[in-house]
Amino acid sequence: MRIIVAEDYKEMSKTAADMMASQIILKPDSVLGLATGGTPMGFYKELVNLYKQGKFSFKEVKTFNLDEYYGLDKRNLQSYHYYMMENLFKHIDIDLENVNIPDGTAKDIDEECRAYEDKIRKAGGIHMQLLGIGINGHIGFNEPDVKFEAITHLVNLDEETIEANSRFFSSIEEVPRSAISMGIKTIMHSKKILLLAAGSEKAQVIERMINGPITPELPASILQLHPDVTLIVDKEAGDKFD
Ligand code: GLP
Repeated sequence: MRIIVAEDYKEMSKTAADMMASQIILKPDSVLGLATGGTPMGFYKELVNLYKQGKFSFKEVKTFNLDEYYGLDKRNLQSYHYYMMENLFKHIDIDLENVNIPDGTAKDIDEECRAYEDKIRKAGGIHMQLLGIGINGHIGFNEPDVKFEAITHLVNLDEETIEANSRFFSSIEEVPRSAISMGIKTIMHSKKILLLAAGSEKAQVIERMINGPITPELPASILQLHPDVTLIVDKEAGDKFD
């Protein structure tokens, strides 16, 4: 695992945006895996800035998001569909036909999960996957468990996650109790992984992810086995490891 400790949140975001922009410049038809949450907001801002300098285009890029809340419609302000439109897609020249996010309102969720996996496979797999990390070590919405869940599936969210994400909702009751998430195998099949973490509340989980045992009780620990992970942290999140 390559580890970059950035001076602050802005530098973390810029470094990650530079890496993704390079990926697109080198391979204009890249398949990108995208993440949501508070952490990558600065990253998307920096990526849009680079795009606006005219150095590359998203015309041939395909994207797959990690996850979506179960039951939230695309137009819901808390949905990851909405987040992605606001933070990235409406600012760039991507063909929306090439954008893929699990449909949290699909009637047949099992079929939705199967079809999502299939689409990723048909696109040739993910070239670069962006990840954040939950304070309990989740990646995507793969929560701590007794086993690693392999492929795209419906997840029951942990109380800790519901609580952490309630800051984006007007009350904790509004936070969905479940979500559709890419599985661990799907994520591990990506050629390159970029993991971002910022703030002191992530320091402990980052330390355990790097130095602790590989266990489904800390899903991100599996990344120790991936051959091409770049972890970019700000000073606070990088405070607890050597
Ligand atoms: C959310 C998302 C994850 C994200 C994580 C951390 O629940 N499903 O993809 O990485 O939690 O979020 P944040 O960056 O807001 O701390």
